[in-house]
Amino acid sequence: MSKAPTKNAKLIAWVEEVAKLTTPDRIYWCDGSQEEYDRLCQELVDGGTFTRLNDKKRPNSFLARSNPSDVARVESRTFICAKTKEEAGPTNNWADPTEMRSTMMGLFKGCMKGRTMYVIPFSMGPLGSKIAQIGVELSDSAYVAVHMRIMTRMGTKVLDVLGNADFVPCIHSVGAPLEAGQKDVAWPCNDTKYIVHFPDTREIMSYGSGYGGNALLGKKCLALRIASVMARDEGWLAEHMLILGVKNPKGEKSYVAAAFPSACGKTNFAMIIPPKAYAGWEITTIGDDIAWVKPNADGELRAINPENGLFGVAPGTNEVSNPNALRTLHANCIFTNVALTDDGDVWWEGMTDEAPAHLIDWTGKDWTPDCGRPAAHPNSRFTAPASQVPSIDPDWENPAGVPISAFIVGGRVATAFPLVMQSFSWSHGVYLAATMGSEQTAAAEGTGMRRDPFAMLPFCGYNMGDYWAHWLHMGRNLPKAPGIFRVNWFRKDENGKFMWPGYGENMRALEWIVGRVKGEADAVECPYGLVPRYADLNMKGIDFSKAKYDAILKVTKTKALAEAEDQGKYFAQFGSHLPKEVELERQLFAARLERTPDVWELKD
Ligand code: GTP
Ligand code: SPV
Ligand code: MN
Repeated sequence: MSKAPTKNAKLIAWVEEVAKLTTPDRIYWCDGSQEEYDRLCQELVDGGTFTRLNDKKRPNSFLARSNPSDVARVESRTFICAKTKEEAGPTNNWADPTEMRSTMMGLFKGCMKGRTMYVIPFSMGPLGSKIAQIGVELSDSAYVAVHMRIMTRMGTKVLDVLGNADFVPCIHSVGAPLEAGQKDVAWPCNDTKYIVHFPDTREIMSYGSGYGGNALLGKKCLALRIASVMARDEGWLAEHMLILGVKNPKGEKSYVAAAFPSACGKTNFAMIIPPKAYAGWEITTIGDDIAWVKPNADGELRAINPENGLFGVAPGTNEVSNPNALRTLHANCIFTNVALTDDGDVWWEGMTDEAPAHLIDWTGKDWTPDCGRPAAHPNSRFTAPASQVPSIDPDWENPAGVPISAFIVGGRVATAFPLVMQSFSWSHGVYLAATMGSEQTAAAEGTGMRRDPFAMLPFCGYNMGDYWAHWLHMGRNLPKAPGIFRVNWFRKDENGKFMWPGYGENMRALEWIVGRVKGEADAVECPYGLVPRYADLNMKGIDFSKAKYDAILKVTKTKALAEAEDQGKYFAQFGSHLPKEVELERQLFAARLERTPDVWELKD
């Protein structure tokens, strides 16, 4: 402890207290240097957690294979421990804070035995920026420590900025103490898992998992669940959104933020390369997962990406779907649960048309194309520095953020929704975002929608109904509120094939969105909202007929009415926390449908 590189008394006392409880063999204060990163990575190689990739093909990069039971966030084990269940709301798991604290203390007792406790000071947001938040994660995982250096601004420089100020305390343990002489495993974890948030005291505790959002506590735990509570109290927004810049050939630049649920295309959209017809246009990337949005003194909404890296879904990433992501991954990356090629590189489903003849799969077994198993886990991920993204925006670290002209939301809907539409108003936009979601398989009940409001279902740190009220409140106070748009790239035809080519072609919807907020693009009303006619979209250089586009826009009255009814059932659970405006927008939707023909079609 004498070596603590800080005079922050609260921090020193807390580290001592947690060490006393968890009894690690060593305490190590991370300085965030390259030398430290390299050393910890080598230790992970020596301990069998990391495999060093071929230095010629993928310099300074590593592969990790997790325990097959520890491969994704565990929403069923994620808790919001507000004072009352009502404050957490019907969509969160709640536990009494006092009881949960004692449960966690019980689990943490001696849990770091035989291990090193890493003290990881980190900043979400550019270091020293007024809108950044500082946290300190105590973790017994070196995998977490090296990840935090990529995903956040981490190390001594954070302590220097912190001084004697307060920070968000985050305790993480894989829950696998080592008895004297016991050999460690490559991926220690525990079948018992808890991801716990105390919104009132702004504390985070995580036990049993070493993977992603369960363990990298700056990301979903701090930057979304705890930050959403801070944002509610302080008048800003903490969102599960990418941020991108669009520059047109005239040199006019706009920024948009978009919320798509997990694994629904944020990383793809954040760095799309416009199709050939868009010569002179430029897309730049600010972030791919989280946006903090705050009004400035002029009432303009400004957004920052609180992260420093990408933790992206690997499968499906290829030269066509996301060339910028592939280029980002050329070096200095960590891959988790992807496959290993015979020449020491990585592979995943969808990376190339043809799979290699032989691989080591994500479980460490031999793999051949005919073996019937996926080579990479569907939630396998890459961890990469944001600074390596070829399309990174020159302002991506601007502490003042970038001005947001439009919010875009969208789920994965196979049957019902138009490609792109604008809300009639801010409150209609909040309603569109509140009701978004992704369709389940035919086996599901109701209309089969798994609602994921604002893509925040697993990430809102308080009552979702109050969160919608907060959005309504924010809009009321903005002199120039951004437009709110809903998109759906995922509509399918009778044969189950995607009707819209997607990826780079999504630029056509984006151009219309940016045009709308500038008052330069036309729209007509459909029962859901304002939509572009075929002629309102730039369809140059794409083989996508007017007939196909009109088919995407078709609304079947009975289905749409069933959707309105299902939304009503969904809203009922929020009781008095459901904002009246949101319910009234639903009723307006149903009322519009009453006057609609059995099949609504675009007239030109
Ligand atoms: P998290 O990191 O989990 O928050 O998710 P994300 O939203 O960043 O996910 P990501 O961008 O990695 O989503 C990948 C998935 O979206 C893959 O299944 C892609 O095939 C799919 N996807 C992305 N864009 C499109 C598109 O335009 N059309 C279609 N059909 N699929 C798309
Ligand atoms: C998500 O699930 O939305 C992610 C991945 O971005 S994780 O960081 O593991 O939560
Ligand atoms: Mn995410």
